[in-house]
Amino acid sequence: MVNCCRSIDLGGVRRKKAFLGTLTSNIREAAVRLTQGVNGRVLDVGCGNGLLFVEAKASGINHGGYLGLDSSWELLLEAKEIFRDNHMSGIPLIQGDGFLLPIKNRSIARVLCVNTLFNLKSKKEVMEFLKEMGRSCTDNGKIIFDFRNKHNPGIRLKYLWHSLWGNFPTRAYFIKEIKAILEKFGFRILRIVPVGKPHKLLALAYLVEAGRAGSDP
Ligand SMILES: C[S@@+](CC[C@H](N)C(=O)[O-])C[C@H]1O[C@@H](n2cnc3c(N)ncnc32)[C@H](O)[C@@H]1O
Repeated sequence: MVNCCRSIDLGGVRRKKAFLGTLTSNIREAAVRLTQGVNGRVLDVGCGNGLLFVEAKASGINHGGYLGLDSSWELLLEAKEIFRDNHMSGIPLIQGDGFLLPIKNRSIARVLCVNTLFNLKSKKEVMEFLKEMGRSCTDNGKIIFDFRNKHNPGIRLKYLWHSLWGNFPTRAYFIKEIKAILEKFGFRILRIVPVGKPHKLLALAYLVEAGRAGSDP
């Protein structure tokens, strides 16, 4: 499958429903926009099959300093195929655990994680994941992540249904819960971008850019 306007070849994406939904794609696109012009390394935690990097290339962003990490070897292999199909090379991919990143303290300019936190099973896990991302980012670096909006009735209903019948967790949060999580390890929200209609307060999800409490915005 080739996206006609931006020449992206997505033929190598095996689970199209899981990876190419409107919300997941919109979140990746919004996250990529926040990495535009960043000086330094950009790490995508839970990079899956590497679609964020493909999106960056399609948006004309130089992905020279990007690297990806995922726990799934299978998805990293899929990423390599997708990169090949899209004539992309030189993006290091690491198999690893987001709860224990194999990354030096304060070494990455932007640490991203998209379409992943909503599948963690508890608020405590979200905290541990984000804290580890925070540890890895430079003094004035930022972490960028999304969360599904618990104020949106559609999301709430869908996740309630899924919690009854699904075989993996899906969880939404209120902004105040995310703020409280960030505060626990000395971070704060610098920017919050609603993603998906119908309204800013009822957006399907939010993309957050957060930094250390005393750092430059
Ligand atoms: C729904 S996919 C999203 C992939 C990608 N971020 C995207 O937007 O297309 C969630 C990804 O998180 C990865 N993941 C889940 N738990 C992880 C962990 N503890 N450490 C690293 N990756 C993890 C999964 O393997 C999967 O690739």
